[in-house]
Amino acid sequence: MSDETETVLPAPGTVLKTLSEIPDPGGLPADFAPTPIVILRSGETVTAYLNVCPHAGRPFSLPSGKTLVSEGRYLVCPFHGASFDVATGACVGGPAGKSTLKPVAVTVVDGQVVAA
Ligand code: FES
Repeated sequence: MSDETETVLPAPGTVLKTLSEIPDPGGLPADFAPTPIVILRSGETVTAYLNVCPHAGRPFSLPSGKTLVSEGRYLVCPFHGASFDVATGACVGGPAGKSTLKPVAVTVVDGQVVAA
């Protein structure tokens, strides 16, 4: 028996956000429950990860939905400053060590970010 609960991911084709809503560069939480997902945009690159920082489990998005992306390529946790490569999810600085974010497969179809 495992203590871990299964992560519920969106079914392929589920619309998670309208691309034009997402700041470029920037990010927003996905329109999906119960699993928190953050969608990141940098130019034509759109990626998504579980919206849970591996350092202390806090969300990357502030209550306003604002998500910090620095230099167009680093997701920055607003709580203690861990930074992650937007394209790969790899931690590149701060207190989250060598962790990597859990990816959520997405694609863009007709201006919508959808689960892949
Ligand atoms: S919870 Fe993200 S850096 Fe601490």
